[in-house]
Amino acid sequence: MTSQEIKQQFIQFFELKGHKVLLPASLLPENDPSVLFTTAGMQQFKRFYVYPSEAPSTRVVTIQPCIRTSDIDEVGDATHLTFFEMMGNFSFGYPDKKDSYFKKEAICWAWEFLTEELKVEKDRLSATYFKGGKGIKKDIESLNILKTIPGLRKIKKQGWDDNFWSLGREGSPAGPTVEFYIDGVEIWNLVFNEYIFKNGRYQSSECKGVDTGMGLERLIMVLRERKDVFETEVYNNLKSQISNLKITSQNLKLVNGTKNQRIILDHKRAAEALAGEGLMPSNKEQGFILRRLIRRLIIILKKYGLQIDSITQNQTILAEAKKFSLTLERGLRQLELLIKNKKISGGQAFDLFQSYGFPFELTRELASEKGILIDEAKFQKEFTRHQKISRASQAKFKGGLATGGEIETRYHTANHLLLAVLRQVLGGHIQQKGSNITSERLRFDFSHPQKMTADEIKKTEELVNEKIQDGLEVNMKEMALVDARASGATGVFDDRYGDKVKVYTICDKNGTPFSAEICGGPHIKNTKEIGEFKIIKEESSSAGIRRIRAKIS
Ligand code: SER
Repeated sequence: MTSQEIKQQFIQFFELKGHKVLLPASLLPENDPSVLFTTAGMQQFKRFYVYPSEAPSTRVVTIQPCIRTSDIDEVGDATHLTFFEMMGNFSFGYPDKKDSYFKKEAICWAWEFLTEELKVEKDRLSATYFKGGKGIKKDIESLNILKTIPGLRKIKKQGWDDNFWSLGREGSPAGPTVEFYIDGVEIWNLVFNEYIFKNGRYQSSECKGVDTGMGLERLIMVLRERKDVFETEVYNNLKSQISNLKITSQNLKLVNGTKNQRIILDHKRAAEALAGEGLMPSNKEQGFILRRLIRRLIIILKKYGLQIDSITQNQTILAEAKKFSLTLERGLRQLELLIKNKKISGGQAFDLFQSYGFPFELTRELASEKGILIDEAKFQKEFTRHQKISRASQAKFKGGLATGGEIETRYHTANHLLLAVLRQVLGGHIQQKGSNITSERLRFDFSHPQKMTADEIKKTEELVNEKIQDGLEVNMKEMALVDARASGATGVFDDRYGDKVKVYTICDKNGTPFSAEICGGPHIKNTKEIGEFKIIKEESSSAGIRRIRAKIS
């Protein structure tokens, strides 16, 4: 069975068991400030464990691409990946909702899928359950179910770290797990959300749910009886692309050859997936992770005398490479000098980051090849100090406003309309990257890979004016940040938000929310007060970021 066939089989199996097939969520979660990326299939459904009536179906099945950066330093070994696909089945609202299910069905179906569909021999399989701990009782129910399965001979109890799953966030679901293993490799995690993390502790929840996740790449590795996740067909195409180049088995034997090849395979796949979703490399949050992936790729390829365009044609990646090439050589020379002195301080590593764009991991990796260790804590200290300084200067321009006069307030509301309209005209990938308002004009930066066409500019201007003429009310509501995010409100400066935030909402003529932004304000009461809106210029601000200058009169 190919990986494609396994995915189809998984979907079909659960569809036949009454699950609705849903599309995967974006790798870039839109309304969830608690994470940078989609790291598990359940993430897009988190809310449904608490509010099951909002779920599109009580039973759902997905194949969710995920990005996990927690293990990024391990990538290069035989099993760790930054990007992978997770197959999962889910149930919400047990026991009240008709069709909901819990431990018995989830465990028995997992067994059925593994042994009857994938035809894994029973004695290769084992399972674990939660033995209790930290005030949570042993999962006897799961143990009893596991014991009824004929042919499952190896059942083991495990503790909190292995068999309890929690996001550790206020209001989020959590619970004990059952894990299935093939030949001792964990392949399927069945989470039984029967607790909710509230007021800092786990409380029993009336409303229970199932969240399972099986990593496709790892499953294929064990099915093929391989020890290396990269030795499976998931990577065949990428691999042949690479071995057509100069990274042949011969020079793979050179320093860290296999490790480098794995990093290339993993990072290329992850970077292309992220860039493919419209993410732009930057020095912040998600964009910074993408930047790190690309820069590490560039440096490793360089060891083989290769350029990044030999392995990808992705425009965002190529643009980042071009940008980096300006400082790469100078940075490497600087690093060499430091390496000669056999010592690199945290401050020097920060300088390499600040002046030459070398992410810390990269400096550490290059230094460690020469046997030099760098103090990460000192680097982090410099990094935090720098962030504080730049945040203090940003705070002067609260919400992008230099002063709080009447005309600036009108501009500020126009800014919200502009963002909402751009998302309509250009697409949901548009994110505000900066805003600056004076009494003369507004300057608005947003992520978008190419120049806007004359038509798009015209349409944007017209739509903003239409919303102004519609005389729409601007409403403000204070709420907890989590609720604001859950409601779909957008916002950019997450690290500056407190627990309570103001959400400004503008509904269109039919009462449908048109713009909802977390924002410090101030705003006018009705869009009519803005006056006429005119775009003066649309230009590039930096790589992947466009800038609009507009006036109101
Ligand atoms: N949420 C669990 C995991 O990520 C199961 O899907 O492992």
